[in-house]
Amino acid sequence: MLEAVRRAGAEVLASCEQGTCGRCLTPVLEGRPDHRDSRLADHQRAAKDCMFLCVSRSCGDRLTLDLVRTLRPLRGRPVAICSLSTAL
Ligand code: FES
Repeated sequence: MLEAVRRAGAEVLASCEQGTCGRCLTPVLEGRPDHRDSRLADHQRAAKDCMFLCVSRSCGDRLTLDLVRTLRPLRGRPVAICSLSTAL
């Protein structure tokens, strides 16, 4: 998912890119994430309301993410925030 978000033009926070550091944790607004990380507890996976972008995928054709907290801040420049929907 991280690759798809970056291809869509969003600069998002990520560090390990292996599903272990937690930096890219992102709320899921709509759709079903396919969790591939090693951090989420079973109840968090079942809730399907957040995901680690770096290793996880989408179970369906469409996943809507709330990237407000995951976007990389741009120093000295205004940042326009919008909801990004990625059709896979
Ligand atoms: S970048 Fe570390 S968990 Fe995604």
